[in-house]
Amino acid sequence: MSAIIESPRQPQQRASKGRVNWEKYGWIYMRASGVLLIILIFGHLFVNLVQGDGIKAIDFAFVAGKYATPFWQIWDVLMLWLAMIHGSNGMRTIVNDYASNPTIRRILLGALFVAAVVLIVLGTLVVFTFDPCSTLIPADQALSFCPVP
Ligand code: HEM
Repeated sequence: MSAIIESPRQPQQRASKGRVNWEKYGWIYMRASGVLLIILIFGHLFVNLVQGDGIKAIDFAFVAGKYATPFWQIWDVLMLWLAMIHGSNGMRTIVNDYASNPTIRRILLGALFVAAVVLIVLGTLVVFTFDPCSTLIPADQALSFCPVP
């Protein structure tokens, strides 16, 4: 007895003449963001885990030091946006390939979209509103350059 597995690559909609072929741009985005992510992720891992004292050096002060420079803020936000859109778009492809029930497909795609938007907005806010001298930090953990409350 042999089982036949249907080819998953059945487009839900075909691009017709004159319409923007979003699937093509999605395909190109996966490759382009993949190349950039290799640089961003391995750069991130090297600076955090290999350089200096490695993982032992990672604490609140280490993060505060990194976010004191726009370079690392932009690096991390780029990594967040590119990876979130890449991962969500990849999951969208898998959902379109395998979820044949239109209602379930719509629910899954909607959940993916909401999760991606929430995480991108929260992550971006964290990076750009990070305050190393926040009054929420306990006094015994405050950084030396912060004014004493
Ligand atoms: C080192 C960086 C990365 C590279 C070079 C890379 C590359 C790629 C490429 C080229 C594809 C398209 C495959 C296809 O169309 O058949 C892909 C798909 C995918 N990627 Fe990435 N990726 C990277 C990081 C990530 C990250 C960080 C995530 C999660 C946030 C992720 C999640 C996915 C998913 C879910 C798919 C869809 C898989 C599928 O279609 O079967 N990738 N990746």
